[in-house]
Amino acid sequence: MNRNRKKRSGISAAAIVSACSVLWLPTEIASAGDIAQGKSIAANGITGQAPCMACHGANGEGMAAAGFPFLAGLPAVYLEAQLVDFAQGKRKQAVMEPIAKALSAEQKKAVAVWYASLKPVIDPAHAVQLQDSYPKGKMGAWLAQRGDWSRGLPACVQCHGPGGVGVAPTFPALAGQSAMYIKNQLLAWKTGTRADDAHGLMAHLARKLTDEEIDGVSAYFGNDIGAAAASATTAQAGGQ
Ligand code: HEC
Ligand code: HEC
Repeated sequence: MNRNRKKRSGISAAAIVSACSVLWLPTEIASAGDIAQGKSIAANGITGQAPCMACHGANGEGMAAAGFPFLAGLPAVYLEAQLVDFAQGKRKQAVMEPIAKALSAEQKKAVAVWYASLKPVIDPAHAVQLQDSYPKGKMGAWLAQRGDWSRGLPACVQCHGPGGVGVAPTFPALAGQSAMYIKNQLLAWKTGTRADDAHGLMAHLARKLTDEEIDGVSAYFGNDIGAAAASATTAQAGGQ
């Protein structure tokens, strides 16, 4: 586990090829100072902006009903890249843009490292197990697990990991994000308001999905795998 996580220039081809091992635990290269600074930003915000916690939850668990994603346990490299993208307008989003612009490069890194250090919202081991038992007759589940090679659509889990638990540092977890948030992202790629992934992997895929398929995969990762894994682990949830 000695990948250089300080390199943070977005998605490189090498990162995609080598994205294979660790699910989270990105904190080993983070200094204690970064973590403390990030924790303070999450709790207090930065001048003139609401604290991250107000929307992303006290433990980075997000607010599913409002479409605010969880951040806890996502790879630090990924989180930091998203903040840069919001600030640069590559990911156009009215709420996050001013917040990301207000964060210095150092603050972006610190808050990314803090959220990456928090306990994931769902139990990855459990989500991985669920994928084996899940009925593959459902359209969303089928696309997620098998893809559709006749249309050049790889299975979501090929990149996002078994059960959609994510593969650090490049591929974020899908399991446990709300169906609404997942759907919003797929639509954003389809319409071009999210144009941030360096190799266009997601934009390319999203454009091939029908609206019905978008609903199907979003419900699968958000409601089915996500909720089932979360309900089994509620007692453990809650950050650090
Ligand atoms: C007023 C509510 C609000 C506040 C405050 C807020 N966020 Fe967000 N955040 C959102 C919303 C809404 C999204 C989803 C944007 C979208 O749909 O693209 C989001 C998305 C994100 C993402 C992308 C997550 C992903 O999985 O790609 C990151 C990273 C993020 N926020 C970090 C932060 C940080 C760090 C702070 C504090 C400095 C913060 N947010 C404060 C509402 C908020
Ligand atoms: C070829 C690899 C690949 C495949 C296959 C793939 N993804 Fe992705 N996905 C990515 C990458 C890379 C990102 C991160 C993009 C970024 O950095 O902004 C991503 C990000 C996402 C996000 C944003 C998550 C967040 O926290 O904002 C969603 C939602 C998503 N993918 C859904 C899907 C779905 C649904 C499928 C299957 C239909 C799928 N992906 C298949 C590579 C892939």
